[in-house]
Amino acid sequence: MTSTEPHHATILEPLDVQRVREDFPALHQQVNGHPLVYLDNAATAQKPRAVLDALQHYYENDNANVHRGVHMLSQRATDAYEAAREAVRAFLNVESEKEIVFVRGATEGINLVAQSFGRAFLRAGDEIVISHMEHHSNIVPWQLLCEAIGAKLRVIPINDRGELVLDDFDALLNERTRFVSILHTSNALGTVNPVEDIVRRVRAHNPEIRVLIDGCQAVQHTSVDVRALDCDFFVFSGHKLFGPTGIGVLYGRRELLEAMPPYQGGGDMIDRVSFDGSTWADLPNKFEAGTPHIAGAIGLGAAIDYVRALGIERIEARERELLAHGTAALESIPGLRLIGTAAHKTGVLSFIVDGIHPHDIGTLLDMRGIAVRVGHHCAQPVMQHFGVPATVRASLAFTNTSEELDRLAEGIRKAISMFQ
Ligand code: ALA
Repeated sequence: MTSTEPHHATILEPLDVQRVREDFPALHQQVNGHPLVYLDNAATAQKPRAVLDALQHYYENDNANVHRGVHMLSQRATDAYEAAREAVRAFLNVESEKEIVFVRGATEGINLVAQSFGRAFLRAGDEIVISHMEHHSNIVPWQLLCEAIGAKLRVIPINDRGELVLDDFDALLNERTRFVSILHTSNALGTVNPVEDIVRRVRAHNPEIRVLIDGCQAVQHTSVDVRALDCDFFVFSGHKLFGPTGIGVLYGRRELLEAMPPYQGGGDMIDRVSFDGSTWADLPNKFEAGTPHIAGAIGLGAAIDYVRALGIERIEARERELLAHGTAALESIPGLRLIGTAAHKTGVLSFIVDGIHPHDIGTLLDMRGIAVRVGHHCAQPVMQHFGVPATVRASLAFTNTSEELDRLAEGIRKAISMFQ
């Protein structure tokens, strides 16, 4: 590269997919006599060897509790756990590691905010805005809060491509609006929401409204900078980002986390405890009661290192090609209807086929070694909007190939032929 060439020319050198696939042991197996085609990445992603090695290394060498012991193993475990927090901080471009709370997953992160921030700072009559395309994990916690305190849930509608109707969003914001909680990318439709624009609209209306972005289906596909995004809270789950299950992240703006009461009480979240009352540890420990998922955090740190070494821009470019290929392959199938055709989409191909139940398609695909998810994808309001009980969903990762998408299309055609 000469000095006049743009830097991104190097970064965007395509991924060597066959080599990268070698990093994922689970991808190299036969299922029902066929090579596995794993197209359920939105449910959970497969794990690269680097993550598996980090887990094993921790349990084989450093296994001890964190923040508690003076002994060497506890110090090593604490260092590794806190190094993982630093990896998350850098990954999201967060200012301070005190703003990174390890939780079980995005679901727990949203429940924490709803219960801690919501009960402390929202009142009867206040309004919380979510959207029609939310995962249940960004609906039910707010319903529970509304029932408890008498707040009201308002819902941004979606159009028939599965995009937010932003004019209606502006109209929903009023003097009672106190909180907006929106997913970045839809697990059921693949829609990528204009989250920067959404935050700008909220701030323009009233800078006091707090905004949570659910980044569960985003961080594995695109780069996220929470400072540029200017949201107040951001959540994601480790296992969709090639890390372990049972670990996730809540980012919260420091002054908000400082002001919020603890979500759970127990060890490691206190400063002093007496029968007259207790005081709380500094951030982020105030929100990490009990022994945390130490190995999970370490595995997540390894997953972040892995993704950053590949380059999220290269991952994004690769997945854009795969999505275009898969969309064309599925659109050519008579009787197949894609659910979710937003202008800005990530690698989710949700569809129904005339006259065949999604569960039958899923089962027939599984017989050919092709793993997809069928059902409502924990987004029943999305299904209600499109008037379907369920869809078949193929969800992509950079480890997929165009040949696998051709096998998916062939499998669907075969399934259709069996029902004719
Ligand atoms: N939310 C995950 C999915 O979309 C489990 O499959």
